[in-house]
Amino acid sequence: MTASYPNLRMRRTRASNWSRALHRETIMTPADLIWPLFVTEGSAVEEPIASLPGVSRWSVDEIAKRAKEAAALGIPVIALFPNTPADKRDDRGEEALNPDNLMCRAIKAIKDACGDDIGILTDVALDPYTVHGQDGLLDAHGYVTNDDTVAMLVDQAINQAEAGADIIAPSDMMDGRIGAIRLALEMGSFHNVQIMSYAAKYASAFYGPFREAVGSSGLLKTDKKTYQMDPANAEEALREVELDLREGADSVMVKPGLAYLDIAARVKQRFEVPVFAYQVSGEYAMIEAAAAAGAGDRDALVLETLMAFKRAGCNGVLTYHAADAARLLGG
Ligand code: PBG
Repeated sequence: MTASYPNLRMRRTRASNWSRALHRETIMTPADLIWPLFVTEGSAVEEPIASLPGVSRWSVDEIAKRAKEAAALGIPVIALFPNTPADKRDDRGEEALNPDNLMCRAIKAIKDACGDDIGILTDVALDPYTVHGQDGLLDAHGYVTNDDTVAMLVDQAINQAEAGADIIAPSDMMDGRIGAIRLALEMGSFHNVQIMSYAAKYASAFYGPFREAVGSSGLLKTDKKTYQMDPANAEEALREVELDLREGADSVMVKPGLAYLDIAARVKQRFEVPVFAYQVSGEYAMIEAAAAAGAGDRDALVLETLMAFKRAGCNGVLTYHAADAARLLGG
């Protein structure tokens, strides 16, 4: 600090548009956004999701159109989540390994339509495929087993890579899965397939609308606290991130977003690696509900919250507002 009032007036640089532009510390562009999309069976299908006003599930042909739209807006990556039909769900989530499942068909349709113009991030976890809605395999007591689950996740990841996935994103929080998936990708000659680890994922109350979107909310009878993190913990998040980096994650994610900005900032400062935040379904719903209630301007709320992630040090944000935000940013 070199001066004090009145020689220094902090408002001087805020007095005009041009000066605010000149002094802006953080820049956000459509290239900072990842757009999560939900896939459903059928063709020419759009199914609105009640708890996520403005978000729909799309059939495979429609998903390819959304991907083209994203590429045209300058969004570099879309994230895919399937709403698996009920008759294809079982105890073990075997449908995750089917090379012709919804996810794999969507990946191929998008690659056909867009080629290299868009990256495809795929979710690795079993909850969209199991009849119990948990992310892994259950033992006789209903506990989600670790090592048996990891074996399934490895096969799921390879299935997605074979279909053409660019970024494998394990969201399951099992121990050791990043190393196991990296090894399998290397052995399968998928050297350039990236891993974005959901490294610090919390057992959060903000996932409700997502579970409706993938059809697991009615199935899930308990919580996910034996594998997802306690919202009270921060040091533990740093340990999770360190482990995943050691095991070969190319980038790491913090999830949910807004309530965990301190975690994202600490991860960035400590590790200096690519960090992404997931502004999750409940956060999206909160903004939409606030705007619908007249409590704030929707577009301003969207841009302000997304900027907060960048200011905290995130390289990018997964958000259901991605296409709208890209348009607002002039993409
Ligand atoms: C599950 C998964 C969840 C989300 C992404 N992957 C929900 C959960 O853990 O129950 C949440 C995303 C969101 O709420 O937008 N593997």
